[in-house]
Amino acid sequence: MVRLVDIGSACRRRGYGQPERERSHAETRTSRVVAEQDVGEVAGGLHEDVVQPLRQVEVVRLVARLDVQGQRSRAGVGDAQPPPAATRQCEEHEAKGDPRRRILVPESAHGTNPATAAACGYEVEAISADADGRVDLDHFRAQLGPDVAGTMITNPNTCGLFERDIVAIAEAIHEVGGYFYCDGANFNAIVGRVRPGDLGIDCMHINLHKTFSTPHGGGGPGSGPVTLSAALAPFAPLPYVVHGKDGFGLVEHQGDARGHGQPLGRLKGFHGQMGMFIRALAYMMSHGADGLRQASGDAVLNANYLMASLGDLLTPAFPGPCMHEVLFDDRFLKDTGVSTLDFAKAMIDEGYHPMTMYFPLVVHGALLMEPTESESRESLDQFIAVVRGLAERAKAGDAAAFQAAPMLTPRRRLDETAAARRPVLRWRPEEPREQAAE
Ligand SMILES: Cc1ncc(COP(=O)(O)O)c(C=O)c1O
Repeated sequence: MVRLVDIGSACRRRGYGQPERERSHAETRTSRVVAEQDVGEVAGGLHEDVVQPLRQVEVVRLVARLDVQGQRSRAGVGDAQPPPAATRQCEEHEAKGDPRRRILVPESAHGTNPATAAACGYEVEAISADADGRVDLDHFRAQLGPDVAGTMITNPNTCGLFERDIVAIAEAIHEVGGYFYCDGANFNAIVGRVRPGDLGIDCMHINLHKTFSTPHGGGGPGSGPVTLSAALAPFAPLPYVVHGKDGFGLVEHQGDARGHGQPLGRLKGFHGQMGMFIRALAYMMSHGADGLRQASGDAVLNANYLMASLGDLLTPAFPGPCMHEVLFDDRFLKDTGVSTLDFAKAMIDEGYHPMTMYFPLVVHGALLMEPTESESRESLDQFIAVVRGLAERAKAGDAAAFQAAPMLTPRRRLDETAAARRPVLRWRPEEPREQAAE
């Protein structure tokens, strides 16, 4: 049977020049000798033809092998499968086929978590946050029972806080026979420092675009390899990489599974986003284990630097240090006539893409700032000066200016409801002047 590899050549056919970009990315980012050799080999593989029997497409196996090994060792869980594209698809993978009905999800969760559980037919039960912004352990324990299939938790959570009770949570869910799914969207805060498998997590997706520098959304296709504990590994989606006495191999069909393997089938066409695996792999190899550890340390340091520098003027949602993102609520805007939305729009006039707003929902008027590891001290200071300046202006009674922002963009304040309901997804040239004047 002939299969297609949905990257490289397919893009080349559409004329996007993607393979060249991927190749140069792999080559330029790879500074270490050991990495250069492997990644060079991988990048070269991108030029194989698009229509080729899978077993001849060595690059697929090589990348899968290297990528899986890297993620597995960083996640500390039993196995890793590359194909899924993003959070929702990864989450489905644990949820399918379990007769238990309830999934416990913290109320601070990203919408993808309850949406996935509900889409798979589960009843979603919200777990409250405690005063510190973490899962309320007592409430969690009180909701447990034999009909609980599992829990879906993000760590660090969406408030930018490490779930202090995560080991107790894992033990509690396992005691009732449930599984622990971790939303790995915030893995960039802990990569190289904490192995999720050691925390008792059974399944975690790793959004390559969050932790391993691949593009996402408008920048390119998402990819979220799944890591599984030994308990769940037999149900891994196809295709997956196995390691035995004959070395590495690829299980492509359900009938090929060995031992107790009962793969649940395919979640994604072909082999997933191969270009994303290559980028992620190049990033991992060029940084090395110490570099990745440094990246998570820098991300956390940068977020805390923002918190320390803005905390006296803005209102941090929770006390104490944060992880890779710092969460403010809108108490600092009380009685100013300026909303979180106005504040964000004013940031556009200052040349900044606004931070995440109104999420997570557990905080009123949330402003969630995630500087990442790549910002320098200078760029953080510049950002801090701008945010402080805006906060001072808001408090000084400049509400009208905020409400009119942005003033300096080609399009001013949009009607967001109309934009959401009637999106204009295609650029059209301006009408000629005479016509426009008529
Ligand atoms: C905690 C969390 N989970 C899930 C997602 C969605 O991830 P993806 O874009 O990979 O679907 C996000 C996105 O920001 C997130 O922050």
